[in-house]
Amino acid sequence: MSVDGLHTGEATGESTSARLSCKSAGVNIGVLGGTGPAGQAVAVQFAGIGIEVVVGSRALDRSEETVAALREKWSERDLPLVAGENAAAAAADVVVVATPWEGVLATVEPLAELLRGRIVVSMANALTRFGKEMIPLLPPTGSVTVAVARALPASRVVGAFHHMPAGPWSDLDHPMEADVMVCSDDRDARAEVVGLIDRLPGLRGVAAGGLGSALAIEAMTAALLEVNRHYKTHAAIRLTGLADPARRP
Ligand SMILES: NC(=O)c1ccc[n+]([C@@H]2O[C@H](COP(=O)([O-])OP(=O)(O)OC[C@H]3O[C@@H](n4cnc5c(N)ncnc54)[C@H](OP(=O)(O)O)[C@@H]3O)[C@@H](O)[C@H]2O)c1
Repeated sequence: MSVDGLHTGEATGESTSARLSCKSAGVNIGVLGGTGPAGQAVAVQFAGIGIEVVVGSRALDRSEETVAALREKWSERDLPLVAGENAAAAAADVVVVATPWEGVLATVEPLAELLRGRIVVSMANALTRFGKEMIPLLPPTGSVTVAVARALPASRVVGAFHHMPAGPWSDLDHPMEADVMVCSDDRDARAEVVGLIDRLPGLRGVAAGGLGSALAIEAMTAALLEVNRHYKTHAAIRLTGLADPARRP
């Protein structure tokens, strides 16, 4: 779905979220830093359900190589993946930031105008190694997601996908069963992202509050990595006590 589709509604006074809801079946996704394991997992998962994904990169040739490799790996699926620089990915309806946390602001700030009005999903975790352990770092804003929101005041910033382990999650033949906690101060944007996640095989999107939740969600990733290290696995999160997605308020 083109960017122009979003702009049409602006003239009529229709809200961006309403427009996105109406056309969510045709939404496209862009991934900034889509050449890394996390971005590739996001890209193949959404492409696997027929959503066009622009795999962004700082260098077009790296994106082209990544898209070619993913298309070859999943050749029988004809994935709708498109190669492009990060600016091309930033023109999508929903944009996922999948760079290391150190590069997040340098990536999104120059794209702020392009990202205006768009849903921008931050999945970055600020972590560091301390001896053998992975431990969470506390960004001055409390979380990377809030830093993205500060850098993009005109965008609809959402936190999601922080806990999804890229390796197993990128295997389209074996969907992971997991809940994805989604936080945003923009409730409509959060609902749109929850709805998109609910369409992915094995996943359930869970509305997990405003941007204030991002601190806990991001820091939790460090504990999950320690679970993985101890049990030599790739754990993800499953919450109990939630109703079926179709019956959730
Ligand atoms: N890996 C996981 O299992 C996982 C799971 C959940 C969340 N995450 C989060 O997702 C993010 C990406 O993880 P990853 O493992 O895919 O990371 P990564 O491989 O280190 O980086 C992803 C891509 O970001 C770009 N990049 C690297 N350094 C950059 C910089 N300084 N500034 C701007 N762009 C840069 C590179 O793409 P180009 O060179 O092509 O531009 C790279 O391929 C991280 O913030 C991580 O915390 C990861």
